[in-house]
Amino acid sequence: MLRRRFHPYARIRRVLFAIIFFLLNAHIFFHFLHSDPDPAADTSTAALWDYNPYATVPRIHGVGRVYIAANHWISAKVLKPYWINGLLLLIQQLGPENVFVSIYENGSWDDTPAMLRELDEILGRMGVARRVLIEAITHQEQVAELVAQGDDKPGWVMTSRGKKELRRIPVLAKLRNRLLEPLEELQKQGKAGFDRILFLNDVVFTAQDVVTLLKTRSGNYTAACSIDFNKPQYYYDTFAIRDSKGREAPAQRFPFFAGGESRNAMMNGDPVPVKSCWNGMVAFDAAPFLRKQDPLRFRGVDDSLAVSHVEGSECCLIHADNARYGWHSNERSGVWINPLVRVGYNFPAYHYQRLHMYGWSEYMISIPVRIGTSLLGLPWRKKRVMDRVERWKKEQPGRDEPGDFCLVDEMHVLVENGWKHV
Ligand SMILES: *[C@@H]1O[C@H](CO)[C@@H](O)[C@H](O)[C@H]1NC(C)=O
Ligand SMILES: *[C@@H]1O[C@H](CO)[C@@H](O)[C@H](O)[C@H]1NC(C)=O
Repeated sequence: MLRRRFHPYARIRRVLFAIIFFLLNAHIFFHFLHSDPDPAADTSTAALWDYNPYATVPRIHGVGRVYIAANHWISAKVLKPYWINGLLLLIQQLGPENVFVSIYENGSWDDTPAMLRELDEILGRMGVARRVLIEAITHQEQVAELVAQGDDKPGWVMTSRGKKELRRIPVLAKLRNRLLEPLEELQKQGKAGFDRILFLNDVVFTAQDVVTLLKTRSGNYTAACSIDFNKPQYYYDTFAIRDSKGREAPAQRFPFFAGGESRNAMMNGDPVPVKSCWNGMVAFDAAPFLRKQDPLRFRGVDDSLAVSHVEGSECCLIHADNARYGWHSNERSGVWINPLVRVGYNFPAYHYQRLHMYGWSEYMISIPVRIGTSLLGLPWRKKRVMDRVERWKKEQPGRDEPGDFCLVDEMHVLVENGWKHV
């Protein structure tokens, strides 16, 4: 038999790659088929954020009491008018007596602190219980303060740069937990009868979006998330999103997920079962946060694991903890993405999704995405990470990480002006 000089599959593989390349780029063609109206000229959309303090607004029922929590940092661009007016309109619908607002701002150098002070006053006039904490601390000062506490404290790891550095995720977890401090106070006073805890990122949203989110599956969820867009067609937060099998969402465009239960639901516009999500806005069942013993809180993975170049988002780990140690009720169960609630880190991204969600262009885009992800076999298994976790577990008995599906091959450390992958 003659030995072939060329591998018989080489050609097939080349053709396959050409097809994938074509399909992945076909969207550019579709993109030009429809042109958007100028978002700025779209007055009907602008009216969505018309806040009138004197208006009589019909109340929304069946949502209960909501603890609204938000970290803000350099978010002036979305605060006015979108975030602030969205929040005020939401409170009008839920009723000022049914919400508590907890905001924590930390060292912004734009108009964020001024805007939040103004919001604080408006909330006061509405009679909303709240804590708007504006921390005049710069990033540099915060890092310096943590450095001064000593590098033998939790949160410090030896990095590949040959020095001890401060991990970013435990710091972020702390910032989020600070939002829950007033909850603890209210609990002591016996006034913490909340049904939901709603976390809002610095995103463009409407009051209606939040109400839709809160009413996901008629309230039958432990957590329900929106989808967040940074650019018109691309979702943003890949760090926290995991499908029903715990896999990453490999495509940044609709329908995001690899084949399975999550993608099917996404294609159909039904609530999407997932293991984890955050993505702009998330509503939790409040019960696990209010439990007397080990209330649910944000955390990072252990330093001893992080040192082997493994990291996980505090926003994913919280779902893992909730599932493992948490609350199981028949009335509120599962983590879900509501695919009809789409928010943006800027107005054009929000506007695009509002116009095109579940339109024909989205279905067109889904074709190359679905074919591409299946041909490439995405998402790829994270063998290297899993090996490190196994090794870490063997090193010492009793070690465990319920959020193994959250983990990625990364290390994030704080630096003077922000943070860095190392
Ligand atoms: C403030 O919080 C954000 C996250 O909300 C974080 O990225 C930033 O580094 C923090 N800044 C300071 C000064 O701590
Ligand atoms: C809530 O959802 C879960 C999971 O889908 C389901 O098993 C349960 O029956 C639902 N509960 C109610 C009260 O509908």
